Amino acid sequence: MTNDAGSPPPTPERDVILRFEDVHKAFGAQRVLRGLSFDVQRGKVLGIMGGSGTGKSVALRHVIGLLQPDAGRVEVEGRNVPDLSAGELSDLRKRMGYVFQEGALINWLTVEENLALPLVENTDLGRGEIADRVAEKLAMVHIPDAGKKLPSEISGGMKKRVGLARALIVEPDILLYDEPNAGLDPEISRSINELMREIAESHESTALVVEHRVDCIRTVCDEVVFLHEGEAIVHQPTEEFLRPSHPRLIEFLGPDALT
Ligand SMILES: Nc1ncnc2c1ncn2[C@@H]1O[C@H](COP(=O)(O)OP(=O)(O)OP(=O)(O)O)[C@@H](O)[C@H]1O
Ligand SMILES: [Mg+2]
Repeated sequence: MTNDAGSPPPTPERDVILRFEDVHKAFGAQRVLRGLSFDVQRGKVLGIMGGSGTGKSVALRHVIGLLQPDAGRVEVEGRNVPDLSAGELSDLRKRMGYVFQEGALINWLTVEENLALPLVENTDLGRGEIADRVAEKLAMVHIPDAGKKLPSEISGGMKKRVGLARALIVEPDILLYDEPNAGLDPEISRSINELMREIAESHESTALVVEHRVDCIRTVCDEVVFLHEGEAIVHQPTEEFLRPSHPRLIEFLGPDALT
C-alpha cells in the first residue's frame, strides 16, 4: 500500500492491541455473538456494557482462548487467538490478567497460595520475592491480613478483591475484568475503581472492563461499547457514551447516565 505525502498517516496497526472482527458465536440454536466488532488501542481501557445474557463474558472468554469463534477473528497484538499453538496461547495468557465474574479461587488453597500460584508457575521469582509481591497486592486491594484464610472463610466482596489481586499479580500487559464491582460496597468499589484507573495509567496496560455500574465506567474507562443482539451498536469515548443518543442505550442506562 502506498501513501501520498499529503494524506494523513494511517493509525499504526501495532497500536491496536485487541480486535474483534465480525465475531460470531452460537451455542446450539442460540446465537450469542452476531458480528461483534471493536478494537482497543494500546494503553486504553474499553468498557463493555449490555444487558444480562448479551454475551459480555462470552466475548472476554474468546480473548484468552477459552472459547473459539464460529466465524470472524479475535486478535491480540495482531495475531488471531484461535490460530495460536498451545505454547503460544500459554505464553500469551501469562501476560494477561483475568478477573472472573465468579471469583474462581482455588478452594483448598489459602488466599496467599492462590495469589502465589501464577508466580510459582510462570516466573523465576524466589520465595521471598513472591511473598513480597503477594503482600503488596493484598495491601493494594485493602485486605492485608487475609493471606492465611481459605476462600470459604472470607466474604464475597473479599473474594472479589482476591480475584483482582490475583489478576494483577503477574503485572500483566492486558487486563480483562468481568464485573469487578459486583458484590462490593460503594466505598470499596470506589477505591477499586481508582485502583483500576491507576493501574491503567501507570503500567500502560490495556484493559477490557465488563461492568454495569456507571460510576465504574466513568472512573475507569476511556471508551465504551454497548452490546445489543450480539453486536456493538455504540462505541464512543466515555463522556459521549454517558450522554446517550441511541434509543436502546438511553433505555438501558436510564436516568443514571445523566447524573
Ligand atoms: N459454554 C456455554 N454453553 C452454552 N451456553 C452458554 C455458554 N456460555 C454462555 N452461554 C450463554 O450465552 C449467553 C451469554 O452469556 P454471557 O455469560 O456472556 O452473558 P453476559 O452478557 O456476561 O451476562 P451477565 O451480565 O449476566 O453476566 C447466555 O444466554 C448464556 O447462557
Ligand atoms: Mg457475564
